[in-house]
Amino acid sequence: MARLGPNVISIADLRVRAKRRLPRMVFDYIDGGAGDEKTMRENSRVFDDFPLRPHSAVVVPEVEIGTTVLGRRWELPFGLAPVGSSRMFWPHGEEAAARAAGEAGTLYGLSTLSGTRLEEVKSATTGPAWYQLYLAGGRDVALGAVARAKAAGYDALIVTIDTPVAGNRERDPHNGTAELLSRDPFKMLPYAWQVAARPGWILDFYRDGGLMSFPNVVLPTGPMGYGDIGQQLGASAVAWSDLGWITEAWGGPIVVKGVHTDDDARKAVDLGASAVVVSNHGGRQLDGVAATLRVLPEVLDAVGDQVEVLLDSGIRRGSDIVKALALGARAVLVGRAYAYGLAAAGHEGVRRAIDILRSEVVLTMKLLGCASIHELGPEYLGLPEWWVRSRAENRG
Ligand SMILES: Cc1cc2nc3c(=O)[nH]c(=O)nc-3n(C[C@H](O)[C@H](O)[C@H](O)COP(=O)(O)O)c2cc1C
Repeated sequence: MARLGPNVISIADLRVRAKRRLPRMVFDYIDGGAGDEKTMRENSRVFDDFPLRPHSAVVVPEVEIGTTVLGRRWELPFGLAPVGSSRMFWPHGEEAAARAAGEAGTLYGLSTLSGTRLEEVKSATTGPAWYQLYLAGGRDVALGAVARAKAAGYDALIVTIDTPVAGNRERDPHNGTAELLSRDPFKMLPYAWQVAARPGWILDFYRDGGLMSFPNVVLPTGPMGYGDIGQQLGASAVAWSDLGWITEAWGGPIVVKGVHTDDDARKAVDLGASAVVVSNHGGRQLDGVAATLRVLPEVLDAVGDQVEVLLDSGIRRGSDIVKALALGARAVLVGRAYAYGLAAAGHEGVRRAIDILRSEVVLTMKLLGCASIHELGPEYLGLPEWWVRSRAENRG
């Protein structure tokens, strides 16, 4: 049964639908950022600094929007970023999203903090799949997951470097997230109204097994539970020195995600990364860092001719994707844009999110008078002074 009518036509519409279906603490987990959420807002706003400059009266009947990333074809210039706890948004959420990505011929990135076994998620998609690694539980636990991801056939390993501890997401304590996850009825009671207000979600959640553990983080005592995330992440932050044993154990392409500076991009490349993702985790980690589009020029100038440079954070429109590509990103990842769809309507919602972004990319390209994403360049944009200066300074 279709859940989304034809009037759901933008990512903003999917966000409204997600908000209606989810308890507040789950919606805010997706929607919120760290601290004052300045970085989160700026990630999206910064796209406004680049007005589009169409080449008019150019007829473009067909648009090429496919590309290759790490040698594998993506039918779209965007893939799905790793988003933890997706199974809280929708039953078997990771599989639903992976299936939609595969049907569209694009990437699904699976988070370590998945509620579904990595093998099942890989089987759900025919498209490219990357496994994202946190070292929660320590080296031996991570090695177990890496071996499983390799055996399951993931194409690349994402090492996320911007999460030595979880960011200060103030919506969580306001909503009593820790209390609601505690399973202690006395602690839960003051916040239980949020969940009681969403009976449809409760039904889905409990039919899917209720409060879950993380089956890809297998501690000596069994799969890591929800309450242990903070402590386990904090106890095993990724350091550059870990890249060596991770690369050796994995034996395939490594994607370093969470690059904020040219120096870190160079380090990642020196240590053997095949691609980097300029990402600030969608403004969920260190509030006050620059929007990713601001950092893109220095990273491109540092490593753009050696590895593939991707970007995420703040993308809500197809025109944002076109702008990032015109400025030199190989491809982009989207997080919340599809997570809202997943929370609103599962597989159908992710498919709708992908369809919306795809049609917006195609329309933007046609209106720009550009027939292929491979022909995009900065000449299709008005460039703010900071961008021009940054590229000039980097190039000496
Ligand atoms: C709810 C949520 C959970 C996330 N979980 C992870 C994660 O487990 N690992 C990771 O590397 N990034 C995680 N991210 C960050 C995304 O991979 C991506 O960098 C970010 O969502 C991009 O910003 P956007 O949401 O504005 O598109 C998460 C993002 C969201 C919204």
